[in-house]
Parts: sequence; C-alpha cells; structure tokens
Amino acid sequence: MVVASLELEGRGVDDQISKSSSIPVIDLLSSSWKLGRREQLVSKEIVKASEKYGIFKVVNHGVGMDVVERMEEKGMEFFSLPENEKHKAGPPNPVGYGVRSIGFNGDMGDLEYLLLHTNPSSLAHKARTICKSNPNSFSYVVNEYVEEVRDLACQILDMLALGLGLENYQELSRLLRDSENDSLLRLNYYPTSYNARVRVGFGEHSDPQLLTVLRSNNVSGLQIVTDSFNGETWVSIPPDPTAFYIIIGDVLQAITNGRLKSVRHRVITNPQSSRLSMMYFGAPPLHAVIRPLPEMVSPECPRKYRAFTWGEFKKAMYSLRLGYNRLDLYRL
Ligand code: SIN
Ligand code: FE2
Repeated sequence: MVVASLELEGRGVDDQISKSSSIPVIDLLSSSWKLGRREQLVSKEIVKASEKYGIFKVVNHGVGMDVVERMEEKGMEFFSLPENEKHKAGPPNPVGYGVRSIGFNGDMGDLEYLLLHTNPSSLAHKARTICKSNPNSFSYVVNEYVEEVRDLACQILDMLALGLGLENYQELSRLLRDSENDSLLRLNYYPTSYNARVRVGFGEHSDPQLLTVLRSNNVSGLQIVTDSFNGETWVSIPPDPTAFYIIIGDVLQAITNGRLKSVRHRVITNPQSSRLSMMYFGAPPLHAVIRPLPEMVSPECPRKYRAFTWGEFKKAMYSLRLGYNRLDLYRL
C-alpha cells in the first residue's frame, strides 16, 4: 500500500532548475507473500506507480540489511584496490571492471563500475580476478545478495502480474527464475566530484531488462525525467540506504504493450561524498520471446510491438548503439 509520498528535490546539472514532486512508496510489509486482499491492493498501487513514473521505492522489502551491508563492504573493498589490481578484473567485455567508459545508453561519465553475471558458475570464475585473496568469500556474498534481491524482484513481478490481471500471476517472474536467466549485478562507484562541480556520473538512459532493483549508500545522485512531471526537468530522488528503488525496464514496457513505462534516468556526482550503488538487472534468458501479452492488447489498445527475443534485442542494442528509445525498433 502507498504509505507516503516521497519529496523530491529536482536540480539541473548546473543547478539552474529546481523542482519538487513525489513518487510512490510501496510498503511490502514482510516477505511472506500470499494472494490475500492486502496484496491485491498493493498490486494495484505497484501497477499505478509503474504506469505513471516507471519507478517506485519499496520499504519493508524483506531483504536482510546484514546481506546488503556485506555486499556494500565487498564492493568498497574492491573499489579501494590499487588501479592496476582493479584492472585485472577488466576489461568489461561485457562483464568485468570498467572506468569512465565512453559508450552509449548513458554509459559514460565519472564513474568506476564492476559488472557481473549473476549465474553462480560464471561468478565463481570471475571472482578469481576480482578478489584474489579470497574469491570464495566474494562469490558467497554476491550469491547471497543476488538471491535475496532476485526474490524481491520476483515478488514485485508477481504483484505486477496480479495487478495487471494476467491469467498466470507467475508469468513474469518465471523469466527470472529460469536457470538460464541473463540477469546482471552492477556496482557503480562515483568518486567525489573534483572542483566541487556537479557532473554527470551516468548519462541519460533507460534500463533494457525487465526491471532493476537499485540500492545506494546515503548519497544523492539518481535523477529521473518523466512526462508525469514535465518531461524536461530532471528530478532528484533522495537516497535511502534502507530501501530499494524498482525501475521498470524496456522488456516490461514491451510485454505490457507500453502500459508500464521504462523511465529515463541518470546519475550526477556529488561534490561532498562518493556514492556507491548496487543494481540487480533482472533479465530473461537470451532465447525468451518478448511480445505484448494477449491481456494487454485490445481494440482500444492495439498491439504496439512485434515479437523479439531478449538475445536479439541485446545484440541490436550493442551493435546499433541504441539509446533509451530503442524499443522503437520493434514498433508496429
Ligand atoms: C543505472 O541507472 O543503471 C545506475 C544508477 C545508479 O548508479 O544509481
Ligand atoms: Fe539505469
């Protein structure tokens, strides 16, 4: 249920524009999930938030704070290593360590990052270059974190499916539970802005997957732009290290025939403090066929996208260097 509205302070990167508004806060009130009346009401609120903003905050999410803190600690240990050590985990091709990359889909700016496959065997392999002194402990902590945030992502997807009136409420989460899911974990480290200037740390983009589960330390930086505000002004989302932000991705937008919105967002650096964020990008298997579900199509809302596989979508995104409007490639 929406328990409160979140006050947002919006500022352009040069601080010239200021705006405040609100995005919903969803209280999951424990991780025990059954299809009772309360869950049905919360499901409707989740759908509303995803339609209107494409982002919402979840509290009482059931992910242990000890698990979150261990993950953050491992991330900070890694980013504190000497440059040459960190580069041994790179280049990000596509997974590994990267720094201030000049890419596309917003992947540019003032940051360092570590991108990992969440598949335990690929993770165990990569851990040997990330944490030479104790790769097993690194993989253990990442697996533990991924399991918990994936459960949260699946719970959100089940509730979305319920709120959207899908016949099978596990239709969406089964894509993440599939052993061949293509989900990733990304840690971003944004150093303090030099010259006390606010800079873009991660440029404007949307997330291509089903959904993102984002958590950051207590340092601001995340901003969104959405028609629900005015479609032009960047609006800042205050950090909350005890909560998670759920960001709707392109695949959910396509599956719901455009009903849920993949929100444009970016990150600006902070002149006072460094920021560490951890994103679980929930993605289907490469061979999964993505198409608007029949329940989402009607004479009033005709089908908007042709079918594509997640693998095809990813390939097009990388080879054509497509940005946040990449779903247009599949528009009917
Ligand atoms: C992202 O949008 O993928 C990164 C967000 C963040 O670092 O907070
Ligand atoms: Fe993103």
